[in-house]
Amino acid sequence: MSTLQTIKLHAKAAPGRDSLRAALADYRPGHALPQSFYQDPTIFEHDMRSFVMAHWHCVGHASMVPNPGDFFTVEIGTESIIIVRGKDRQIRALLNVCRHRGSRVCTESQGTAKNGMFVCPYHAWTYSCTGELERARLMPEDFRKSDYGLKQVPLRVCEGVLFITYSADPLDFARVEESFGHAAKVYGWAKAKVALRKMYAINGNWKLVAENYQECYHCGPAHQEYSKRHVFARPQAQREAADQAMAARDAELGIGLTDVDCFAEDAGLGHESADSCRSALLDGYLTGSRDGQLVAPLMGEFKGKRSDGGFSFLDVGPTSNFVAYPDYGLIYRTIPLTASKTAFELIWLVDENAVEGTDYRTDDVAWMWDYTSLEDKKIIEFNQAGVNSAFFEPGPYTPMESDAARFVDWYISSMRQVAAG
Ligand code: FES
Ligand SMILES: [Fe+2]
Repeated sequence: MSTLQTIKLHAKAAPGRDSLRAALADYRPGHALPQSFYQDPTIFEHDMRSFVMAHWHCVGHASMVPNPGDFFTVEIGTESIIIVRGKDRQIRALLNVCRHRGSRVCTESQGTAKNGMFVCPYHAWTYSCTGELERARLMPEDFRKSDYGLKQVPLRVCEGVLFITYSADPLDFARVEESFGHAAKVYGWAKAKVALRKMYAINGNWKLVAENYQECYHCGPAHQEYSKRHVFARPQAQREAADQAMAARDAELGIGLTDVDCFAEDAGLGHESADSCRSALLDGYLTGSRDGQLVAPLMGEFKGKRSDGGFSFLDVGPTSNFVAYPDYGLIYRTIPLTASKTAFELIWLVDENAVEGTDYRTDDVAWMWDYTSLEDKKIIEFNQAGVNSAFFEPGPYTPMESDAARFVDWYISSMRQVAAG
């Protein structure tokens, strides 16, 4: 019998809704959000408990825990989760909250559990990698260890990529499989390994990070290196010829990738949102790299063929974004921390058989998106600084920011349900 329990949202009383209602009343469709959505700690608490925690979030790749006992921890808001592979080879997501008096149980960011156990640093309650409480010192005879396993949240593995949700009644994952899963399969991500992980700390609200990711209106002025390589940085009309040429190369190579948009239409109907979008690289670029040449062995269906000079953008829920090139992949995790602090983690994927130093150099694989992300950190922090002004007034989104506007509309419609509830 499993002693594991799934977290129940809304166990605590929800924070007051007055400030949320006031902020919603100020929202003008097609415009950036009113100031308090980017500042107010009460709205951040609503964000976390009613929006973020209700969705699915990428936490990493299965290759990060190759053997039984291997684990890593992830923090989202105030929550810490242990992602661990059990003796049965299943990967689980255990709440890192001791069932005795609540201490963090695992205090390391990654490693292998000694003897397959996690020992709480406070009074040494000891848990297995499946979360069962195995030892509790000096307890009365009628104490039932089976009632005190670590709580567990749902975890899904899709083409090697790990997703968790905090919801006891998770959003349906089918659209994620259809959109993200299809592309990740073509790119061979189930047979990938992690080349590098890097965390970026942002002084800014998580929604500014998410909005920034969703639009490329800023790419021309803020990302000159990215814009030299990706036609996506240009208005739609200037992209079409290059995108059509890429689609023709895909057809020639037998690569079956198209845009699959399962975004907000199903929000509120129990489905997780997901979309995938194809785009071309500029002539002469085979991947997103400094010199345009491949930086790692071709992956998935590209193996034994050649690059199609294109890539896919993949989005899942509000915090998980991905970029897939024929030779490497990128996981982009937005991590809300407080009303004014966010982190994002980049995880670079290469083929599982690629050998560092022989088949790829990590610096070359990482260059494009590390460079771009450091630029993003700056512009998001400038954005937050301006939004904090007493004189800030939300301005209109432009046509090139339609996905950011769509994201904000989706968020607002969810928060309206919270305010009404
Ligand atoms: S809080 Fe973990 S053993 Fe006491
Ligand atoms: Fe950017």
